[in-house]
Amino acid sequence: MRAVDIIDKKKHGEELSKAEIEFLITGYVKGEIPDYQMSAFLMACCFQKLSAQETTHLTDVMRVSGDVMDFSDKISGYTVDKHSTGGVGDKTTLVLGPLVAANGVVVAKMSGRGLGHTGGTLDKLESIDGLKIELEEQDFIDIANKVGVAVCGQTGNVVPADKKLYALRDVTATVEDVALIAASIMSKKLALSNQGLVLDVKTGKGAFMKDLDASIELAQRMVEIGTLMDRDVIGLVTDMDIPLGKTIGNALEVQEALETLQGNGPKDLVDLCTELGGRLLVLANKADSLEEGKSKILKSIDDGSGLKKLEEMVEAQGGSLESLHNLKISKNVFELKSSKSGWVQSMDALSMGIAAMKLGAGRETKEADVDLEVGLKLFKKVGDKVSEGEALLNIYYSDTSKLEEVKKQLLESYTLSDIEVEQPKIILAEVLKDKIVKY
Ligand code: URA
Repeated sequence: MRAVDIIDKKKHGEELSKAEIEFLITGYVKGEIPDYQMSAFLMACCFQKLSAQETTHLTDVMRVSGDVMDFSDKISGYTVDKHSTGGVGDKTTLVLGPLVAANGVVVAKMSGRGLGHTGGTLDKLESIDGLKIELEEQDFIDIANKVGVAVCGQTGNVVPADKKLYALRDVTATVEDVALIAASIMSKKLALSNQGLVLDVKTGKGAFMKDLDASIELAQRMVEIGTLMDRDVIGLVTDMDIPLGKTIGNALEVQEALETLQGNGPKDLVDLCTELGGRLLVLANKADSLEEGKSKILKSIDDGSGLKKLEEMVEAQGGSLESLHNLKISKNVFELKSSKSGWVQSMDALSMGIAAMKLGAGRETKEADVDLEVGLKLFKKVGDKVSEGEALLNIYYSDTSKLEEVKKQLLESYTLSDIEVEQPKIILAEVLKDKIVKY
């Protein structure tokens, strides 16, 4: 086999075999195929498109390019995972994981760090004193078995092919292709042997995918890959035009997750966790219908069993319960007031995520540090009535150097209307292996 022939075949729109894709990807990871040939291949994929089968082959070859974690005979019962394509204020994992575990379904999850305007679960978890996110594989499995939910950072060398390919896609204008994105995400998700997976594909201003139809297509491609690889996968396309919940920032989001498990969560976050969790319970055969699954999730909020699971997970991962219940949040607070009256018509999630990042809650580059104590607490969201002089949000800050800029940016993120505005929907579409439903 020669790389040039495979590139030529794809350039002419022909279907590649698994062996051909494997030859290219493994050769590239080993350094035997140079960047210029891989760049040409990626560009050919953008123009000629990969079929569902080719995308699945690519995903599988990437998946096994490094360490895979097969716990199918080490964790008893059906295990599940959730993936979010990333958003602003997205603390879903911290609520959903314990609620699903409280219903007897094991959640074994590898999470990531935040970058740019989007937050990451690992940073949020580090707001809890002592909590370890770097777990040895055996400890991760033991915690998943004992507690029912474990969340860790990437262990070992997971999907090195994606790291190398992503860096190349970034500089060759080949990031946006939906099949390449789907293969990149799913290769990392499927490197763990979870049987059930629910995908939360965010769409809107604060999401990586801004357009609803493109987000549905991405969900479709990922569901196709999962199905062809014998996993049970459901995709929900959810709103990220506005931040999720009422907080943005690490400790603030953990506090909100805790309050949600105590029964005092914001409606959009509770609804999202109920929709995702209800589906996971159906996949795991713990509920006969979505309605039953959703009501079981809500019951685990009401009876405190979800909260208990979060506490058990925190303790099992070395975290302090005292710290979980008394999170350190900056004492420097600025109340940002509205300069006029009306109803909140829109909020710019991207701009608000960037504002939080400027305060230190997020990182501009992979290497930057985050300040766990800073961020935003939102009092007004789309559909809410506001009076002139009323607080829109609180800014929690550590250093004042960017405060004026952040205040201005946040005020500009809100658009008010003179007439009443409806609350937005959180679930916009559902993608199953055989159908798509738009809400
Ligand atoms: N996120 C990923 O993990 N990969 C992509 O290609 C795009 C977003």
